[in-house]
Amino acid sequence: MSLDIFIILCYMSSILNNVLKTYSWGYLMKIFEWSPIEYVSMISRDREVEYNFASGSPDPSLIPVKEFEKIFQEVIEEYGYRAFLYPGAGGSSELVRNIDKYYLDKIGVSLRSDEEIVIVSGAQHGIKILSQILVEKGDIVIVENPTFWEGVYPIRFHGASLRGVSIDEEGLDTYYLEKILREGLKPRFIYLNPTCHNPTGYVMSIDRRRHLLEIAERYDLFVVEDDPYRPVSKDPPPSLKSMDRSGRVIYIGSMSKIFAPGLRIGFVITNKDLAEKIKILEQHDFSTSTFLQLAMSKALEKNITEALMKRCSEHYDMKRKILLEALERYFPGRYTRPVCGFFNLIYVDKDPERYVEKAIERRLLYVPATRFFVENPVYSIRIGIGLISSEKIFDGIKVLREIFEE
Ligand SMILES: Cc1ncc(COP(=O)(O)O)c(C=O)c1O
Repeated sequence: MSLDIFIILCYMSSILNNVLKTYSWGYLMKIFEWSPIEYVSMISRDREVEYNFASGSPDPSLIPVKEFEKIFQEVIEEYGYRAFLYPGAGGSSELVRNIDKYYLDKIGVSLRSDEEIVIVSGAQHGIKILSQILVEKGDIVIVENPTFWEGVYPIRFHGASLRGVSIDEEGLDTYYLEKILREGLKPRFIYLNPTCHNPTGYVMSIDRRRHLLEIAERYDLFVVEDDPYRPVSKDPPPSLKSMDRSGRVIYIGSMSKIFAPGLRIGFVITNKDLAEKIKILEQHDFSTSTFLQLAMSKALEKNITEALMKRCSEHYDMKRKILLEALERYFPGRYTRPVCGFFNLIYVDKDPERYVEKAIERRLLYVPATRFFVENPVYSIRIGIGLISSEKIFDGIKVLREIFEE
């Protein structure tokens, strides 16, 4: 770009800024953007799909539909009209109690005496509210690079800029994190998905977990642990929350992957002060359905969780094995090797955003993942094996290879 054009662009952007401020059109400066995931889902609506690698939903065969049919009936019998009244901010006391009593020990997450559980409408709602509370315009927030696009969108929306720290088979590169903090970076907090990472499928090692907590302690940082895949993975390492000695880890759990995302139930564990702020902000949206909270609470009481966790982890392990065989055959050396969860990345040599339509014509959906990189973007595709049936995985990866070869 020539210097003249550069100067004209700077001049125009400063005029635009002043106009926006003068006419209170500040909202136009906010980031309104469709996520790559939502975009694919929108343009494929009403199209026939045979290979759905785009969805983050769990396997339909694992959603306990029959159990919920019974549970819904029981909730109506037990609570009657009360199940249909407004929910209170913070969540139903029954559900809070039952998460503590029947669920946390199963997933290896502990609650300190100075902490509380707050019910939210899924992990995403938890991230949104935490962003409203924690983020000030101009803040820097550290995230994995690549990261879960939708998870960090609320953080960006509230005016923070993201600083990416790369991730490998052992998780977040804590040595690099330490280096940039030593050099003076002052982030507001660290957001990460250390177990069954979306989109790479990596799991952070115990050593790196220890190192991260040590660093957080030294630099006095909050760590937001986003952990929806723990209940569907076999023997995951301890949660950061359970290793945290000073209460600086804010834990976000979700019932979406283990039970069903349409229930929209998640929870946040944090200190009482922050917990109260979350509840106060839940006055803005009245949060989670009373009926579904009571149903979730009953489901936990029934002790179906443990069997479901086992069934899920085995089923997804089986699907992942098929996926890995297919990846080795059709994309050797060009993928991240998933350990657990639903996702992994395939690296491609063409812009994947430009091939989405072509893939839909072949009845295949994938999520272009280049925008999941907050720094140094790499052409990549996110593959999800949650929704797709195991029989379709191998063929689907073959079709994907053909799409990118043509
Ligand atoms: C890492 C991560 N965080 C949060 C979410 C959102 O989960 P929920 O359905 O509980 O809002 C997802 C869903 O795919 C996810 O992968």
